[in-house]
Amino acid sequence: MLKGLLFDLDGVLTDSAKYHLQAWNQLAADLDITLPPEANQQLRGRSRLDSLNLVLSYGQQENRYTNEQKAAFAKTKNQMYLHLIQAMTPADILPGITALLAAAKAARLRMVIASASRNAPVILNRLGLAQQFDGIVDPATLHHGKPDPEIYERAQTLAGLATTEVAAFEDAAVGVAAIKAAGQFAVGIGDPAVLHQADYIVPSTADLKLEEIQRAYTAWLERKE
Ligand code: BG6
Ligand code: MG
Repeated sequence: MLKGLLFDLDGVLTDSAKYHLQAWNQLAADLDITLPPEANQQLRGRSRLDSLNLVLSYGQQENRYTNEQKAAFAKTKNQMYLHLIQAMTPADILPGITALLAAAKAARLRMVIASASRNAPVILNRLGLAQQFDGIVDPATLHHGKPDPEIYERAQTLAGLATTEVAAFEDAAVGVAAIKAAGQFAVGIGDPAVLHQADYIVPSTADLKLEEIQRAYTAWLERKE
C-alpha cells in the first residue's frame, strides 16, 4: 500500500530550476564558457559541486582550478541564485502541487523532501510549504549526490517506510536514476525521452493526480510480486 511521498524540490514543487540555470549561465559567461542547450537537463538534480564541475567541463576547464577556486565559484553562483529567488512567493508553487499535497494529507501519506539543494528550507519557507512535510533530508550529510540512491534511501528512512511503500517525484534524469537505484516507485515530471527510467511519467505537475499515481503504483507493485 502507498504510504508516503518523497519529493524533489527544484523543478517539482516550484520552477527554481530556471533560476539555477540562469545563475550557472552567469558564472559560465564570467569564465568564458557557453553552456550548450542540453545543460538545462544535465544540470538538473546535481549537487552544487557536481554542477560546477559539469559547467567547467563544457569549457574544458575541469582541471584548471584549485579546490579553493572552485569553492569560490560555487559561492558566487549561490549568491546569484539567492538573489534570483528573493522574490519567490506561494504564487510560485507549480500547478497541481497544492492539490496533490492536500490529497496526500487527507490520505494520511507521509511526505519528505529529498532535494540536493542546501537552499531547500529557504525556498519552502518562501513558498509557505515548510509545515507540509514530515522531514527534509539534509544534503550536507550525504556522501554521494544523485544519481546515487543515498538521498532517496535517507528520505524513505525519515518517512519510516519500506522501499515498496513510497512514490518519489523527480524532474531530473539523475533524480529518477537515484529513485530507481533505491528500488522505489518513480514518478517523472517532464519529457519521457529524458525520464525514460521512471515508472510513471506526466508532462507537467498540473497532471499529477493522486488517484492516478496510486493506480500506477499498484500496477507496479503487482508486477514486482
Ligand atoms: C538541486 C537542483 O535540487 O539542487 C540543482 O536541481 C542544484 O540544480 C542542487 O545544483 C544543489 O542546490 P544548491 O541550492 O544547494 O546549490
Ligand atoms: Mg529537480
